Amino acid sequence: MYRILIIHGPNLNLLGEREPDVYGRLTLADINLQVRKLAGQLGVSVDFYQSNHEGAIIDYLHDNRKSAHGVVINPGAYTHYSYAIRDAIAAIGLPTVEVHLSDIHAREPFRKISVIQPVCIGQITGKGLHSYLDGLRLLVNHLSKKS
Ligand code: DQA
Repeated sequence: MYRILIIHGPNLNLLGEREPDVYGRLTLADINLQVRKLAGQLGVSVDFYQSNHEGAIIDYLHDNRKSAHGVVINPGAYTHYSYAIRDAIAAIGLPTVEVHLSDIHAREPFRKISVIQPVCIGQITGKGLHSYLDGLRLLVNHLSKKS
């Protein structure tokens, strides 16, 4: 069975209360529940991780590189400038999908740039919870085509 890492970056622990007009009213626990439900339907296992710290996210990627098959990551603001997370994704070589709740291409100019995107198999943005769900579907499709 494929094991997928679902990684949430900084400030996503505050979903539900954080700028609800931008990010919606679902909490991180609500999102994880729906992702877990879809994972069950797709027959894959998911592990969730949230951190507000760049190095902790990198350590989590490193520590799980041999036991996981793919990654869905919302890197939060690290999306726009973390070459270190980008390098970690490239280093471990697991297929990775970048997801965002809001449409990063329709907001402030600094959000339009993702330094993570070039090392990902896809980027899904602006669909709220469905960015995660579509991201998981995309990843599982990619994995099943490979096998
Ligand atoms: C975000 C978009 C980022 O620009 C922002 O810094 C976040 C959340 C999103 O899910 O829409 O923290 O990744």
